[in-house]
Amino acid sequence: MSIKNIRLEVMQFLEKRVDSFVDQYLIPVEEIWQPSDFLPNSESDNFLEEVKELREISKDLPYDFWVAMVGDMITEEALPTYENWLMEVEGVDNLERNSWAKWVRQWTGEENRHGDLLNKYIYLSGRVNMREVEMTSQHLINDGFDIGTGRDPYKNFVYTSFQELATYVSHNRVSQLAKGYGDKKLAKMCKMIAGDEMRHHHAYSHFVTEIFKVDPSEMMLAFQYMMKAKIVMPAHFLRESGQKIGSAFEQFSDSAQRIGVYTANDYVDIMQKLIIKWEIDKMVGLTDEAEKARDYLMKLPGRMAKISERIVIPKESHIFKWVEPARL
Ligand SMILES: [Fe+2]
Ligand SMILES: [Fe+2]
Repeated sequence: MSIKNIRLEVMQFLEKRVDSFVDQYLIPVEEIWQPSDFLPNSESDNFLEEVKELREISKDLPYDFWVAMVGDMITEEALPTYENWLMEVEGVDNLERNSWAKWVRQWTGEENRHGDLLNKYIYLSGRVNMREVEMTSQHLINDGFDIGTGRDPYKNFVYTSFQELATYVSHNRVSQLAKGYGDKKLAKMCKMIAGDEMRHHHAYSHFVTEIFKVDPSEMMLAFQYMMKAKIVMPAHFLRESGQKIGSAFEQFSDSAQRIGVYTANDYVDIMQKLIIKWEIDKMVGLTDEAEKARDYLMKLPGRMAKISERIVIPKESHIFKWVEPARL
């Protein structure tokens, strides 16, 4: 049987359990938080006072902080790209409305709240040029992304396991920083988002654990493939208005790195966490090729840590059209 057919069979085998994964890892609409739980209530007579307070408190947040948060928000707003991509994965069938497609839709529903909440906060803060941000969001959706997974479910679930943890780290750090600057409400918002990301990370990494049980060698090779190619961030095509595709990504990640929202160390840390979670060291029944992949993976975090020590981040912030320094 071809590799592709085996993957499809594994996906069909796991599909029978997707309903229980939904119950375990996703939260029903009526029970989960919504953006308006944390934002000034526009129906209330106190709305304008609450907005005023939000604007006052947000004045203390520094430049790189805004850039990192705006970039995170834009990454969340490119959700249509991620939903389309997951719907194309081998074994996910939206036309047939199979259980994997149901998972993807409900995951999308949860994710959709993240960009929504951050966008409204950023809009109300008055610190950001919304039109520029909106153009970047539209560009990012138009540009799509290319993360090298193809339609392969094994590679895709490695990617989502990694990415959900990376977004957890990033939103959680924004939350901690906001708290440090005295913006308790923003800290709470980002904490709630981070909580969702952690739950999603547990789900996707559970799928990978289940695949390891039935197809260990191929799963190992897919993990190696993704780590060798390096995990490309979902916003890698980020650009400002009028600029070339991808031109803003590095400057955005420099800002995130400078302020400690997401760093090269975090990348290595996440890789190490996945290796521990999937018990890569204890995996048995591997082919020779997969054994070699395991050896490669076990040594990789150490090697990457050394490389990341040498990375130099520019001291000065790039000035984005999104945030005019004069507004801060
Ligand atoms: Fe998210
Ligand atoms: Fe997520």
